[in-house]
Amino acid sequence: SAAEKGGYDYFMLKEIAEQPKAVSDTLLGRIDASGSLSLDEIRIPAHVLREADKIVVVACGTAFHAGLIAKYAIEHWTRIPCEVELASEFRYRDPILDQRTLVVAISQSGETMDTLMALRHAREQGARVLAICNTNGSTIPRESDAVLYTHAGPEVAVASTKAFLTQVVACYLVALYLGQVRGTQWGDEIRAVIRDLAQISGAVERVLETMEPVRELARSLAHKNTVLFLGRHVGHPVALEGALKLKELAYMHAEGFAAGELKHGPIALIEEDLPVVVVVPSPRGRSVLHDKIVSNIQEIRARGARTIVIAEEGDEAVVPYADHLVRIPATPTLLQPMVATVPLQVFACELATARGNEVDQPRNLAKSVTVE
Ligand code: G6P
Repeated sequence: SAAEKGGYDYFMLKEIAEQPKAVSDTLLGRIDASGSLSLDEIRIPAHVLREADKIVVVACGTAFHAGLIAKYAIEHWTRIPCEVELASEFRYRDPILDQRTLVVAISQSGETMDTLMALRHAREQGARVLAICNTNGSTIPRESDAVLYTHAGPEVAVASTKAFLTQVVACYLVALYLGQVRGTQWGDEIRAVIRDLAQISGAVERVLETMEPVRELARSLAHKNTVLFLGRHVGHPVALEGALKLKELAYMHAEGFAAGELKHGPIALIEEDLPVVVVVPSPRGRSVLHDKIVSNIQEIRARGARTIVIAEEGDEAVVPYADHLVRIPATPTLLQPMVATVPLQVFACELATARGNEVDQPRNLAKSVTVE
């Protein structure tokens, strides 16, 4: 009903709008007065966390993309090798698992059969499993050793939005917590990241206030067949997520690529007026990556692509090569996915509407897939 949708036409629009709150709710109560993490709810004993020598993230769909992003933060903050794998592939290749492996299973619904089977397999091999889940008491957390709940609130639209942002937040909390427990991170750095995380909710709010041009752009592209997405570093999984959203909602052919791979194949796809969305890393952090992406944008534009550039406020280097420029607030590199994903969600949602598709219930998809 309209009331359930809180005045929005679709649950997805409501859920996109709820993201600032979802992000802050997921941080709430998990940071103590001194600014350190208090995550006693992760009931895996500290010595087990200290001895872990490998982290394996398993998930499906959008949750898998959250895992791909988390890998950067987990390895950076913990120095523990981290693999991310599609749950449906994981147990069929005889993965190397033992008591020192920490498996992180990410699932909004907590009922995805592929993810459940992957975690059962991991536990049979002696690994500890930490679930990151949005649904209290669902099967995946019940069968895991521990759970960190995302506090996105109920997500009704099949295509995941607010749950995704909170999955990234929760994964980052786990990474920082592991750093804290293992002493690989200085308290000061943890506190600094926590302060930055606390700013993300406001940054997402600001992105949401500036989305009208993105909606307009989406409507103008409704007749297109293909959209490509490029990103690098944490922007690569953001590109994959942008492409997935477009497939799910707009039923368009969409692909995400690592920008550095362009020259190894995908550049052959570029033709006159092909829309290409590029997620540009901050020019302040890893400026080498920023400069390389700017040359990628030049290259594809020289071959006729219509460039849709998502770049930080104040990044002037992209201006000459952007046919459409979408500004996002400046954030530290690792936190950029939480703001950069939002315009891609809005873009896909508006394209779906423009193409007359059912936004909340795309054809052939289910909110949670409880068969393998
Ligand atoms: C389904 C949904 C996707 C979701 C995936 C994983 O395929 O359509 O939107 O990302 O399952 O769901 P989960 O509940 O495990 O996060």
